[in-house]
Amino acid sequence: MCGIVGYNGTKNCAGIIIEGLNKLEYRGYDSAGIAFEEPSGLEVLKAVGRVCNLEKLVKEHKVKSKCAIAHTRWATHGKPCELNSHPHTDCNKEIAVVHNGIIENFAELKTKLSKKGHKFYSETDTEVVAHLIEDALKKEKDFFKAFTSAVKQLKGAYALAAVYEKSPGVICAAKKQSPLVIGQGKGEYFLASDVPAFLNHTNKAIFLEDGDIAQITPQACNIYNIEGVKQKRKVNTIKWNPATAQKGGYKHFMIKEIFDQPQATKDTISTLPPDVKKAFGIAPAVIKKIKGLYIVACGTAYHAALSAKYVVEHFAKLPVEVETASEFKYRSINFQKDWLFVAVSQSGETADTLAALSNAKKAGLKALSICNVIGSTIPRASDYTVYTHCGPEISVASTKAFTSQLAVLYSFALQLAFVQGTITKTVFDKLYKEFLTLPQLIEKTLKDAEEIKRLARKVYKNNSYIFLGRNASFPVALEGALKLKEISYLHAEGFAGGEIKHGPIAIIDKGMPVIALAPKGGLYEKMISSCQEVSARGAKLIVISNTPTKNAVLVPYTNEYLFPVLGVIPLQLLAYYISDMRGREIDRPRNLAKSVTVE
Ligand code: M6R
Repeated sequence: MCGIVGYNGTKNCAGIIIEGLNKLEYRGYDSAGIAFEEPSGLEVLKAVGRVCNLEKLVKEHKVKSKCAIAHTRWATHGKPCELNSHPHTDCNKEIAVVHNGIIENFAELKTKLSKKGHKFYSETDTEVVAHLIEDALKKEKDFFKAFTSAVKQLKGAYALAAVYEKSPGVICAAKKQSPLVIGQGKGEYFLASDVPAFLNHTNKAIFLEDGDIAQITPQACNIYNIEGVKQKRKVNTIKWNPATAQKGGYKHFMIKEIFDQPQATKDTISTLPPDVKKAFGIAPAVIKKIKGLYIVACGTAYHAALSAKYVVEHFAKLPVEVETASEFKYRSINFQKDWLFVAVSQSGETADTLAALSNAKKAGLKALSICNVIGSTIPRASDYTVYTHCGPEISVASTKAFTSQLAVLYSFALQLAFVQGTITKTVFDKLYKEFLTLPQLIEKTLKDAEEIKRLARKVYKNNSYIFLGRNASFPVALEGALKLKEISYLHAEGFAGGEIKHGPIAIIDKGMPVIALAPKGGLYEKMISSCQEVSARGAKLIVISNTPTKNAVLVPYTNEYLFPVLGVIPLQLLAYYISDMRGREIDRPRNLAKSVTVE
């Protein structure tokens, strides 16, 4: 959480920095601040609340600077207030530091520094870094060396950037477990937690790796390891269209991203030919030997993983264990060596997923990651990576990443099944042909947006909602509930249809909205019985189906294992419209940040 932005070049960077912070506001938005170089020295401005409050200050101060670092915060240590917002400075206010992550040994460092006479003003862990640099500068006059010496003393996760007024035109940066990417322009460099922050200015990106320490001037970006050995890092060309990081006339990023889904799945599917080596980079001989899958993820990505379990089990007849990464990483697992570990993550930076992945790697498993952010940490730690090609997902509530994750996982399940011989070529070809039509089917599904809006109007005053699904659509019910609760703050729960009679039915009363997913398939009749049970108790029933059914919103027909990709769309829209009707801050819901890069 938290977003870092930096600029070092020849232009006045006030606008560039504010634009970058606005792009990263999804990472945290309880306060923001900037440290910039002026001819007279280093200046720091901070504002509580949204980036727009800082923007006002920057305008009032008529900031003109060619070198600055800035931050948008999501509080971890210390409440959101001006004193706790970044940048943090040393005793003499000559060094300024911004940070994303958690310095685990900050209390110990603070005690040590306090004994040496350093004065602290905030409750944050970050402030120690500015004082450590100050301390190191007493022995070591070189800013970069002092910065490196400070970084050496840190334990925990960090993306850091620092400036020092006695070393103008230099930004020092370091990365460990929190993302940091450098944008390369002509005679200028950008620094950010995520690419959209500078995508309007350059599409050349250098992703720092764990342990990297960078020295950035307008002319050069030199990267070293902690021992001072120079590191070579690739300059990636980002193919994302900057327009995908704009609202494009929509009221919120979330609704725009819902409508991006035909294109996002089209772009994703276009990289998934029916050839496992080409699509997943895994040789058929390796695929043949896979005896099972561990699929691990968090939040929405976890729901995609859970749905994939049903698909793999059905077609490939392999055992699949799916778990949230935060639980998986603490379990004592007797890893099956011939199972493949699969990590699913939009950001590729989620700390829990990364920790689960490294446990699996330590146990000797091969790992496949399915991520959206190119060059992020999880793909780099994996043996194989398949990217979803959604473009930047800005809204905190994940939508287009989910449908693309489902698409990748579905393709993988079919290819696994075919290579392992559990489905014939004829069946594989037929299923794959249907799979390739997904973008058009999503497009058709979105045509019902107005109908969903009408339904939302009928239920938005309710305070409690139930979602039901079965089989591959049970995780979609969980996802529908998650989407609604995270952006509307209303109570919403998802259940397996067959489970409600074991308890949850007790909470159904007159007028409670129940949204049920009922695709044509093996459990259709059973789902309809569950619907009748809740209707009999007065629930306002909304059914999402692909076959004519009472009270149903119809989505195009597909087999029941592909249905989740279409079935989730009315639920995304419902969550969006209900929350909009309630006047919620849809793209930046309270207490949430887009990527959870700390535990
Ligand atoms: O970036 P990731 O896919 O790893 O993120 C996982 C979850 O934090 C994320 O899906 C979260 O649950 C979203 N807010 C859901 O909309």
